[in-house]
Amino acid sequence: MEKMDAVILGASGLVGQRFCQMLSNHPYFNITGLYGGSASDGKRLSDVLKLPEYCISQSELLSERIDHLDIGKVRRLDPDIVFSALPNDLAKDAELELASHSIPVFTNASANRMREDVPLVVPEVNSECLDIVTGKDGYIVANGNCSSIGLALSLKPLVKFGVRDVNVTTFQAASGAGYPGIPSMDIMDNIVPYIQDEEEKIVKEIPKMFGSLEAGKVKNSDITVNPTCVRVPVRDSHLEVVRVTVDRDVTPEEISDAYMNFRSVPQEMQLPSAPVKPVILRNEENRPQPYLDSMAGSPDRARGMAATVGRVQISGRIIRYVTLSHNTIRGAAGGSVLNAELMFKKGMV
Ligand SMILES: NC(=O)c1ccc[n+]([C@@H]2O[C@H](COP(=O)([O-])OP(=O)(O)OC[C@H]3O[C@@H](n4cnc5c(N)ncnc54)[C@H](OP(=O)(O)O)[C@@H]3O)[C@@H](O)[C@H]2O)c1
Repeated sequence: MEKMDAVILGASGLVGQRFCQMLSNHPYFNITGLYGGSASDGKRLSDVLKLPEYCISQSELLSERIDHLDIGKVRRLDPDIVFSALPNDLAKDAELELASHSIPVFTNASANRMREDVPLVVPEVNSECLDIVTGKDGYIVANGNCSSIGLALSLKPLVKFGVRDVNVTTFQAASGAGYPGIPSMDIMDNIVPYIQDEEEKIVKEIPKMFGSLEAGKVKNSDITVNPTCVRVPVRDSHLEVVRVTVDRDVTPEEISDAYMNFRSVPQEMQLPSAPVKPVILRNEENRPQPYLDSMAGSPDRARGMAATVGRVQISGRIIRYVTLSHNTIRGAAGGSVLNAELMFKKGMV
């Protein structure tokens, strides 16, 4: 299969650099352009590096220059595919313009997520929703919010028991606020019990992710989610404490089997960035932890792509657990790359 030319928008940011990591030496995609804002204009990727250098396995990428974003220029370059890590205010029009010029855009920004013509996809949860863009030349495929994605992965194996109400408290890493993010004096030695717009996003996105596709449109699921979102002084990964009500009494063995045997479309298709196990169940009483479990997932290309679930406790129809997922890998760049890999392998992009 011939590789596709891919450009990264917002390449100098935290998510953009995870795109560089995930797309380094990629079997399907070849990075042909990096775009950023005024802070990175004309600089080499290595000059604005925000990840450890070893993350970028394609070393020549480190000396690539970042261009100031000019959507007209990107359009004229006519890449096969665009990966967007733009701030939301910019993403809305920029992504729509590229899509209207027959360019597929895989985005992390929230600006276009809830549009009817934009599938909001976690490939292990609702890959069928990619049908919304089947047959189109240009379109947008969106990722969920970083907390919604981790939560959705942990809920999917429970859907067969009839998920109704979900209460979740998130403990979200500082990198979730982008770079440079929260002033260190506000987050060091501290916990901030508010993240602007975060709870609203989870409330809207989970019903769309678990919705059903009817006549080419998503009919939202009636799952209700009550989130409380908290910022904690951790560099990467969001930990979420979850309480789910299901339709009937369940046993610990049923839940353990559901998690341990969970596999989905990306695993069946053996996509390059698909973790062998999308959800890793830990039985130790003190797991998951950001320091130990952020980079969960195998093979190497899928490190950081698995959600880890632990502390599972059952009481009749109530399931309580803790889940952890990497916000800039599975919750952002890696999620988009997995969507694009799926569409590439199906010949849809
Ligand atoms: N961080 C997360 O965990 C996470 C998770 C899910 C989704 N997201 C979403 O992903 C997107 C990127 O987030 P991030 O955390 O990577 O943010 P970030 O670290 O602040 O990076 C923002 C990027 O956008 C570029 N940019 C800023 N203003 C620009 C302008 N006027 N024109 C062109 N480029 C401009 C920046 O370039 P310069 O460096 O040159 O300023 C940088 O490359 C956001 O929409 C965010 O909501 C983030």
